[in-house]
Amino acid sequence: MKITAAVVETESGPFELTEVALDDPRPDEMIVRMVATGMCHTDLSVRKGQTPFPLPAVLGHEGAGVVEAVGARVGRFSPGDRVIISFASCGVCAGCSSGRPVYCGHWTELNLLGGSRLDASAPITRPSGPVHGHFFGQSSFASHALVHERSAIKAPDDVDLEVLAPLGCSVQTGVGAVLNVARPQPGSTLLVFGAGGVGLAALMGSKLTAAARVIAVDINPSRLELAHELGATHTVNSAETDPFDAVLELTGGVGADYAIETTGRPAVLETAIACMASGGTTVVVGAPPLGTTIPVDVPNLLGRGIRLVGTNQGDSDPSRFLPRLIDLHRRGSLPFDRLIHRFPFDRINDAAAAAMNGTVIKPVLVMPPVSEKGIHP
Ligand SMILES: NC(=O)c1ccc[n+]([C@@H]2O[C@H](COP(=O)([O-])OP(=O)(O)OC[C@H]3O[C@@H](n4cnc5c(N)ncnc54)[C@H](O)[C@@H]3O)[C@@H](O)[C@H]2O)c1
Ligand SMILES: [Zn+2]
Ligand SMILES: [Zn+2]
Repeated sequence: MKITAAVVETESGPFELTEVALDDPRPDEMIVRMVATGMCHTDLSVRKGQTPFPLPAVLGHEGAGVVEAVGARVGRFSPGDRVIISFASCGVCAGCSSGRPVYCGHWTELNLLGGSRLDASAPITRPSGPVHGHFFGQSSFASHALVHERSAIKAPDDVDLEVLAPLGCSVQTGVGAVLNVARPQPGSTLLVFGAGGVGLAALMGSKLTAAARVIAVDINPSRLELAHELGATHTVNSAETDPFDAVLELTGGVGADYAIETTGRPAVLETAIACMASGGTTVVVGAPPLGTTIPVDVPNLLGRGIRLVGTNQGDSDPSRFLPRLIDLHRRGSLPFDRLIHRFPFDRINDAAAAAMNGTVIKPVLVMPPVSEKGIHP
């Protein structure tokens, strides 16, 4: 079928709304008409060539929409179902069968490197040459996405899809980094570096724990204000104050028990490790360019029992985790709607500019209404 997609043709180039063809769904796939798609920093790092994905490409990995067609073996969804789309996983490897689809043995090929299905077939094509799709199993900067049944989660009728879209990556990553990975003990001190889409989700997650102190660190004063409203007990503007000194002061010289690093900056990760109390855990979430390394003070790490843990998607299993996050949202405990700013789909370049200059935390692209023929105008 013909669809409209935002194609990035070249590294650091604009998103260009283009007509492309979407393949028919295979027996275990479905076509989802997109209603809204969040923009995460990872879309922008791919565009910049810092995260590997072949260009030209259709990016977008926080989609939400309505199922339009299902393959013959799709059992859990029917046309008309409202869904949130998250990453792809194979469903049969050791990671998938142990309930950790985010550590699927095929994760990288399925979500990043390939730009195609696992068998190398192209979900998106055009006569003028190749265009890569299947980004995080969806490529949802488009009017429609081809999605494996495993990547979709049913959305409830009473919450806007525009609000739910960012659950598929940044919200589950931030909340999951706290609840699934760090798991702060009552009375502990948690540090969150970066108060963007992921960091603020982590801060909201911290409010669901019994951590006594939650310190947000950023260089953007308005984000720190919001961090304070959403869960931080203290904020540090690291453009003005050395976060290491501030953390030592706030913890009586002991350091923090946990840090969630979401800036993707190696120097900030080094600071996070330096801020740890003995036995502390630094959780690495932010994604610097491929090949980035940091020096680690090994005797400090082993002598003080400091843990350095990476996480993909906050260790989430979306099919189990997202319904819980939606329930908490309904109860007012996870107000992730406060992070979003809506843009019409054709203003995707303005959305990207606003995310990059820090004026908008979580752009959500809203697709135009469906015309009477069921095709986007
Ligand atoms: N591990 C995962 O599964 C996963 C999932 C989603 C996103 N990510 C990555 O997480 C990172 C955050 O994504 P996002 O969408 O929240 O990005 P974002 O741009 O919304 O947030 C980053 C924040 O870091 C702040 N910052 C920048 N430099 C800083 C510094 N030196 N000190 C303190 N704060 C600083 C910015 O002001 C901003 O608020 C990105 O690297 C993204 O690729 C990883
Ligand atoms: Zn993301
Ligand atoms: Zn797998």
